[in-house]
Amino acid sequence: MTQRGPGRVLSALDRLEEWPGADRLIEAVKQAVRSVPLGAARDVLHGRPLGHPVHPLLVQVPIGTWLSAAALDLLPGNRRAARVLIGIGLASAVPATAAGWTDWAELHPEQQRVGLVHAVANVAAVSCFAGSLLARLRGREGAGKALGLAGLTAAGAGGALGGHMAYRQASGANHAEDVPHLVSPGWHTIGDVAEFPVGQAVRRHVDDVPVMVVRETENTVHVLADLCSHMSGPLSEGEIGDGCVTCPWHGSVFRLTDGWNVKGPATAPQPSFDTRTVDGRVQARLRHLEAEQDAQGAA
Ligand code: FES
Repeated sequence: MTQRGPGRVLSALDRLEEWPGADRLIEAVKQAVRSVPLGAARDVLHGRPLGHPVHPLLVQVPIGTWLSAAALDLLPGNRRAARVLIGIGLASAVPATAAGWTDWAELHPEQQRVGLVHAVANVAAVSCFAGSLLARLRGREGAGKALGLAGLTAAGAGGALGGHMAYRQASGANHAEDVPHLVSPGWHTIGDVAEFPVGQAVRRHVDDVPVMVVRETENTVHVLADLCSHMSGPLSEGEIGDGCVTCPWHGSVFRLTDGWNVKGPATAPQPSFDTRTVDGRVQARLRHLEAEQDAQGAA
């Protein structure tokens, strides 16, 4: 049976991921985005309060209004409504863009390369719709409609690239989601207490899942999944302090006691484990499994 390879579009995107030609520009833009003094608003733009990225949610407004304006353009007597929709789309593109750039600055280079083209397509879309609104306000309805269609085409291309980033490159996905599916129920021995120096992170495995073990005090041991929910950074190589671990890759901060992401860019918490010490050996059990087992035991 003949096996088909990736199509032209997919091959082009794969090549784009590997193309280093714009890397200096990417680095400069990345540093510029990171240097904006957003404070706590940065986490809001990442979507941390929502538990997932907010950018895909925000882009629904401009895309929806622009598409609706194009539909109204096909019917008579809707000029004013189409203008209002295009204006709403342009205004709503501002927070959507801010969230997108904020996320983009914390991605892998391969994702940023695709992301840059995604952004160029979206800038083209915004420019076309701004031109479309201007033309309509000057009474040039035909040019306004044509620019609107061009804008929709650019927004469609940008959306397709965004889909590639989200689903093929897993930008914005929870990279620790698989942990509960990989860790078997019950207690797992992860080493002698003496193997874990107080205040230092040590990498171990539960089943085949890497975990970070931190002995906070003589008798208190914390265990979190080691690969960061943001982009799989190794938390065991991060900094321990104030009851938290800071990811070495992009600075997400997770609470040791329960894995809660107290600071982004991670939008999802880190899977955490209950621990106990039996005969001088540390054991760990995935936290959500405990509730299930207790419920089963009570039934
Ligand atoms: S991998 Fe990005 S913050 Fe951890």
